[in-house]
Amino acid sequence: MSVQTTGVNEIPSCHGGLENLDTEYDYELVEVEGDIPIDIKGTFFRNGPGRQRIGETKYGHWFDGDGMLCAFSFNEGRVHFKNRYVRTPKYVDETAAQKVLYRGFGTQIDGGLRSNFLKMPANPANTSGIYHGGHLLALNEGGKPWALDPGTLETLGEFTYEGELEASMVFSAHGKVHPRTGDYINYGAGISGFGLKGPKPCINMYRINAAGKLFRKAQIPIENFPFCHDFALSDRYAIFFLGSIVFGNMLPVILGTTTISDQVKFDDKVAMQVVVVDLDTFKEVKRFETTPGAIIHFGNAFEEGDNIVVDGMFQDSFEANDTLSDVFNTANRFGGGWFLRYRLNMKTGEMQTEQVSDVESEFPTFNNTLLGTKNNVTYTACSVDNGANSFFNAISRVTFDGHADVVTLQPGYYGSEPVFVPKVDAKGEDDGYLMEVVYNGFEHKSELLIFRADAAFEQVCSLKLKHHLPHQFHGFYTPEVFPAPGS
Ligand SMILES: [Fe+2]
Repeated sequence: MSVQTTGVNEIPSCHGGLENLDTEYDYELVEVEGDIPIDIKGTFFRNGPGRQRIGETKYGHWFDGDGMLCAFSFNEGRVHFKNRYVRTPKYVDETAAQKVLYRGFGTQIDGGLRSNFLKMPANPANTSGIYHGGHLLALNEGGKPWALDPGTLETLGEFTYEGELEASMVFSAHGKVHPRTGDYINYGAGISGFGLKGPKPCINMYRINAAGKLFRKAQIPIENFPFCHDFALSDRYAIFFLGSIVFGNMLPVILGTTTISDQVKFDDKVAMQVVVVDLDTFKEVKRFETTPGAIIHFGNAFEEGDNIVVDGMFQDSFEANDTLSDVFNTANRFGGGWFLRYRLNMKTGEMQTEQVSDVESEFPTFNNTLLGTKNNVTYTACSVDNGANSFFNAISRVTFDGHADVVTLQPGYYGSEPVFVPKVDAKGEDDGYLMEVVYNGFEHKSELLIFRADAAFEQVCSLKLKHHLPHQFHGFYTPEVFPAPGS
């Protein structure tokens, strides 16, 4: 492929990192700069759209690319890489036909109304993953989980927790494992019935025990269901920020004349509602209201006295959707949000907000063993001005004394969500590493950078892949190593 440049000193733009990776690989990473830490034992998984085109056609939105799981398996100083597409019906059928056969969040099938009438968007299984209760799942909030073999990454099929996820129930990409109980808490947009005004929206909530059994479900009634991609989890509460990115009239979407993406708008007259749900009863226990805005991704949340402290990335528009629906346009900029910390007083109903960092950021992550309890360090992907600021090009290590260390990538290199990996026998919160997949626009290849996650915050090594990895959304780490059969 030809390298697209930003126009500034011929620096490659991020857009090459959106090109398809159609090949599925399985090999040991042997081209290494620096030393692979021997105190990492486990598997770093990532998910994201592996392709943005089928045949000659671009998908109508980044969210519609087909999910491709990647696994970096660490054991005794060696690292094995593997990538596999999730064999959803969309992937299988479109691969065979080499054309768009399914509607998406922002993609229409050729042929206008006749082709799109009453067809619901397909689930591309492309957003995130989880390994919990013995199941490796690829997730997208528009559908059900897809299960994969953690050793081979072969697709096992759509996953419903033995039928507990009923036909109408979808499952978000941002469930969280509650460390004290080992339970996995997730949710999805739902409908609890029909009233005079039409369908009654609700949050469907799910609780799954450490053995992988979905044992509690409930519906939290709400007035409207805005774009609600993530939630926060403290020890006793699930906290939902129902923000100002709202869905307009869905009738044209159902009829097939427009896409969901066309109907999603930031409405600055819609105040942000904060709904606090008790994890034991799965009932709403408190509601807060604040100025218009939206939180796409949350960091940690924890309880402190009468307060619930919640970290999130605040947006005051949804201009990002224009970029996401036209990803190959080199004029478009992929930006982030602003790192805010909220304090929700459960006794008085007051709500306070402070800005934690002044660096444009997204994808906040932290040591997940502290999820729901007080943490001191959060990591983010950042957009900074390094002469090629069209994508995430830095990572930050933020401590809550107002300090942020930022590591900036060279212009022409583009980053992703940094994921914390504890050392074997880690002694403290930041005793481990950050994993960061980076796209090298000069060579059209990707590499996995590993940084010390503690205050030293320096690069330890770079593991070079033989090819590029299309920009991905989310990853996670598990201290398990999954041998492939026959290896
Ligand atoms: Fe996300």
